[in-house]
Amino acid sequence: MLVTGGAGFLGSHVVDALLARGDDVVVVDDLSTGDRANLDPRADLRVADIADLSALQRELGSRRIDAVVHCAAKTKVVESMTKEKLYERVIVGGTRNVLETTRRLGASIVVNISTGGAIYGETPRCAEENVPVDPQSNYGRFKAKAEKLVESSDLRAVTLRLANIYGPRQRKDLEGGVVAIFIGCWKRGEPITVFGDGSYERDYVYIADVVEAVLGALSGIHAGVFNIGTGVATSVNQLLDSLASVLGPPPGVRPAPARPVEVLRACVDPSKAAREGLWHPRTTLIEGLRRTAAAEGALLS
Ligand SMILES: NC(=O)c1ccc[n+]([C@@H]2O[C@H](COP(=O)([O-])OP(=O)(O)OC[C@H]3O[C@@H](n4cnc5c(N)ncnc54)[C@H](O)[C@@H]3O)[C@@H](O)[C@H]2O)c1
Repeated sequence: MLVTGGAGFLGSHVVDALLARGDDVVVVDDLSTGDRANLDPRADLRVADIADLSALQRELGSRRIDAVVHCAAKTKVVESMTKEKLYERVIVGGTRNVLETTRRLGASIVVNISTGGAIYGETPRCAEENVPVDPQSNYGRFKAKAEKLVESSDLRAVTLRLANIYGPRQRKDLEGGVVAIFIGCWKRGEPITVFGDGSYERDYVYIADVVEAVLGALSGIHAGVFNIGTGVATSVNQLLDSLASVLGPPPGVRPAPARPVEVLRACVDPSKAAREGLWHPRTTLIEGLRRTAAAEGALLS
């Protein structure tokens, strides 16, 4: 198995699950936002930039690979507006190289990790896969282009459009996951910054559920595009209330101006994945927050 971006948040959880079921795992990661510390030492880490085809091929040599989970990407919506070339190079060029490598190493399936949160634009109703995409950021635009490359390749492929993932190991710095940032503030007793009026809504899906979706996609039974989310839109204010029910009252709330490229409501409808027997969400928001807070050592004893 090859996992690109395997030292990152999602990738490292996928690696753990693959190792647990007995797979040999090779990881390609340039460690730009990932961390060696996330990675089980049994995984074979190759430090390389997926946008550099010769480096990718040099690191992987002529080994045989059964399947590829392509997680590596630049992932920050706001940053993508000022670093357009970098985002295009890594997301579009990198995906092209990963597809080329997948073919060369004989893999029978590629699972392409895409975004549901940043590809549909405004979603007054949780989006189904067949609505036209309307990305509002360079990040979303390039993810849509990468999807097209996957779709037009001759490889067996599943593209998973993920909602907002949260869970242990997520980065807590600015533009990391909002759940990780909030739990970090709670833990340190620092006030929580809320952009805009806190009414904007996201679909929060727990990391272990997403890993199950990746394993389901690797079974090779399915092909095409699937939303992976809960179908429930939660506002930032509701998220704060849910966290308060797990962690006690927040240490304070600091309002800040709304950020640019912010859609008001991003939510995906996961019913196609359920209907076709690929996946359905299991973990409620409260349970996922409780498990995340416990793993981060933020629960009150
Ligand atoms: N976290 C979310 O809420 C979310 C939601 C939807 C989709 N996604 C997608 O999931 C995937 C993983 O995201 P994540 O949240 O784990 O972020 P992450 O930053 O933790 O993981 C990305 C990994 O890719 C690596 N990487 C970046 N550029 C690279 C390059 N040029 N060559 C090789 N490796 C490179 C990073 O070092 C990192 O380990 C991404 O494709 C992202 O677009 C994430």
